[in-house]
This record gives sequence, structure tokens and C-alpha cells, in this order.
Amino acid sequence: MLSLFLVGILTALVLLLFLSSWKRKNLPPGPVPWPLIGNLHQLDKSAPYKTFMELGEKYGEVFTIFFGPLPVVVLYGYDTLKDALIGQAEDFGGRAILPVFERLTHRQGLVFSNGLHWKEQRKFTLTTLRDFGMGKKSIEERVTEEAKFLVEFFQKKQGKPFNPMGRISAAVSNVICSIVFGDRFNTEDPTFQTLLRMINENVLFMGSHGFQVYNTYSYILRWLPGEHNNIFENARVLQAFLKGLIKDHIASRDPSCSRDFVDSFLNKINEDANKPNPNFTMDSLTYTTFNLFFAGTETTASTIRWAIKFMLMYPEIQEKVQKEIDSVLGPGKCPSLEDRARLPYTNAVIHEVQRVASIIPTGLPHAALHDISFRGYTIPKGTQIITLLHSSLYDKQFWEDTDHFNPNRFLDENGKFKKNDAHIPFGAGKRVCVGESLARMELFIFFITLLQKFTFEIPAGDSSSLKLADGGMRSLKPFNICAVERV
Ligand code: HEM
Repeated sequence: MLSLFLVGILTALVLLLFLSSWKRKNLPPGPVPWPLIGNLHQLDKSAPYKTFMELGEKYGEVFTIFFGPLPVVVLYGYDTLKDALIGQAEDFGGRAILPVFERLTHRQGLVFSNGLHWKEQRKFTLTTLRDFGMGKKSIEERVTEEAKFLVEFFQKKQGKPFNPMGRISAAVSNVICSIVFGDRFNTEDPTFQTLLRMINENVLFMGSHGFQVYNTYSYILRWLPGEHNNIFENARVLQAFLKGLIKDHIASRDPSCSRDFVDSFLNKINEDANKPNPNFTMDSLTYTTFNLFFAGTETTASTIRWAIKFMLMYPEIQEKVQKEIDSVLGPGKCPSLEDRARLPYTNAVIHEVQRVASIIPTGLPHAALHDISFRGYTIPKGTQIITLLHSSLYDKQFWEDTDHFNPNRFLDENGKFKKNDAHIPFGAGKRVCVGESLARMELFIFFITLLQKFTFEIPAGDSSSLKLADGGMRSLKPFNICAVERV
């Protein structure tokens, strides 16, 4: 009895100590953390972002939760995200190099780095992606070609049920592969399919409950067997594959004529070779291409799957999109971004797909690289910051009836496309998605090409309900479709 009493007193003391030190730091408010575990036990196991949304309802615009002993600040709602990511862009532009990222890319490459290394990788990547056609006509042709291959594959199914997941990922991945490696892969290639499966597995892990637990206790977990090791093994295989492609480039390249992103990066490595601490090295090349292969595949592919799923669920919306496409493009003309203004309803549908899908609900983790003052609070240097993009895409101040799929919210009274500032699926500020213009083009061309050629139907006996895979990304569980050719 006495020992129980002592344990109780001790726990209360630790809790008080913890609480008082937390208050002293002038952090934003939040739920009371437990010693050692913080608030980890409160996170929704299959989708942690749901817990952040609930806490946002309770604590408001900015709140603190604890992953183990470490505070994590969450930005909730469009106004807060805008004030932080745009209003204080320099302060909020840091990336949290969590233990998972550290082990994947060793603070190098574009996505999981900071400081000069990040600045140089970002500038080089943006310029080079543009040089190789991102946002331009030349890449539009590449996307159109890939969309045609996808159409041929769907046609072969002759309206019978099939799961389109792997093929959509392959089509999308081939676009970024053409820019980065100068070539596309055969979509039938089993190695390519395996790599895509690994990307999918890793993307789902990011932001999941297991991801948060690994980051909190990595000093123990990294030595223990378990599912968390799969992502590192996947990354090892992927990086070995990329190194092979880079080696082939070195053997066949002509420095005076860059064929693709990798060739340009190799030139940059040579240019910077005599600098004291070069940021362009063989390692950073591997990690940046690894980043692009990853970021450029599952995100867009997942959004296209959402778009098809919504067409299954809302046949009347599908019909309206097809009518608009038929009247503007007819059955044969390939879509081009130039047609966007003449396809306002279709454009509205794509925007609403991205809003409701909210595929990266927590964004990618940011960090305070120095003490930040924000809304009267202090976010200490080193604190992880979660930019809860979902809270903007579902912000009740900016969207009516947030859960409802309603493309009309993107149209004005004359049927013209109408923007909404809270639509930030690509993030905002210094770290805004590097591939935004490419992704927008891909979504537009793939979606229109598919609906020009097919009507999507739910296979007999299947349900049209939304079933989400567990994990940090809002990905749909695999589902079957019937792609019925339009005549
Ligand atoms: C529908 C498709 C896509 C969505 C919704 C999306 C969304 C995002 C989001 C939310 C971020 C994090 C922003 C932040 O840290 O605040 C991001 C970063 C990034 N995205 Fe995308 N993305 C998509 C497609 C692409 C594509 C096709 C590429 C390939 C070029 C790409 C490359 C990147 C890179 C390299 C970053 C890291 C930027 C940095 O840390 O500076 N993304 N994306």
C-alpha cells in the first residue's frame, strides 16, 4: 500500500516538473503530456492527423503536443498556416530532420536538408526541371504519351473489373523518370513494379503512428527487428538501383550535351569539385534523385486514383465532366494546359478532388531552426512543426459543408473557375512543393485523357464507399474499376 502511495506521489512530481518546465518555455497550449511518452498514446493509430484535427478544435490555431519528451507545435487552420509559412517565411522554412529522414538521406539531398545545402539543391533542381520541360510544352507531350499508354492498358481490360493502382503509379513515375533519367521504364518490368510498390510502402509509413514512435525512440528501435525496418531496406534497394542508373550515365555521357537531370547534376559536381565543402557530390545526387523519384510518383498517382474513385461515386459529375470535354475537345483532340480556361468545370473537379483527398494531411515536417516568436508564444530552436494542411483544406471558415464532394464551390455565378486561397495541397512558403506545376499538368492531362476515352463504373458486387489505407498519407485502399470504352 505504502509503495503504491509513493509511486503515486513520484508520478505526480514528475508530471508537475514536466508541466512547469513546459509552461516556462512559453510554448502554445495543448494536452497534458505524460512522462516519457508525452501524448503519443493519444494519437489515432491508423491516422494521426485525425487526432491533430480534434486537438485543433479544442486548442485552436496553434498548439503543442509531446512525442515522448519532445514538444511538437501544430499549426491549425488556413490563417495560421498563411501567417507562419508566408508571413514569417524565413522562420518557418526549416525542415525537421527526424531520425527516419536522417537514416534515409543523411541530411543531404533536397527534401530532408537545411541551410546552404538545401538552398543549392532546391535552386538547382527547380532550374534544371524547368530546363528539361517542367511546366512547358515539351513535358506536356511526354505526359500525353504516358496517358496514351495508360489508355491502351485500360482498353485491353475490355470493360472487365481490374485494379488500376500499379499502372497509374507506373505512368506517373515514368514522367519524372524521363526528366531525371532521360528514359521511361517498361510498365511491365517486374523490377520497376517492385520499386513502385516499395515507394508506396514507404510513403504510407511517413507520418503514420509507427513513424512517430520510431522517431521518438529511434535510439532503441533502430537496433530491434520489426516492420519499421522495411522502409530502410526498401530505401537501400531503391538507392542501389538509382546508383546503377547514375553509373550508366557516367559511362555514356557527353559533358557538352546534357540529356537529363542526372547529366546536368554530374556537370555541376565537376564545376564544384574544387570548392572546400561542395554541396554537389555523388551522395547528394543519389539522395536528390531518390527524393524526386519518391515525391514525383505516389503523390500524383494517388490523386488520380482519388479522382477515378470520385467518378465511380458520383456518376452525374462524371457525365458533366465528359460533356464539357466533348464540347471543348471532342473525342480526339489531346488536352493541353492551354485548354484549362475553357474547361472550368473539369478544372473545378480536379481542385475538389485534391481538396477532399488531402493526400498529405500533415504536410512534411518543418522545424524551428532558431527560436521563433509566433502569436505571443515562443517556439524553441529544434522544435518540430507540423503544418496541418488538412486543417486548411477542411477549414470551415473557407469551405462550406467541408466533407461534401462539391466541385461547384470552385465556380462563380457565371460558371467560371473561382480560386480559394485555403486550397494548399502543395503546401506554401519556402518549402512549397517543387513539382507543383508538373503535378498540376499531370493531373489535368491524365484525368481528361481518361474521361475522354472511358466511363468508369463500379464492378458488380463492389461498393463505392471510401476506404482509406492506414498511414500518414490519405491513400485509398486498392479498389477495382470497370473502364467502359466510350463510343
Ligand atoms: C499531386 C501531387 C503532389 C502533391 C499534393 C505534393 C505535395 C507536396 C507537399 C505538401 C510538400 C511539402 C511542402 C512543405 O514542406 O511544406 C511537397 C514537397 C515537395 N515535393 Fe511535392 N507534391 C506533389 C507532386 C510532386 C511532384 C510531381 C514532384 C516532383 C518533381 C514533387 C517534388 C517535391 C519536392 C522535391 C518537395 C520538397 C521541397 C523542399 O523540401 O524544399 N512533388 N510536395
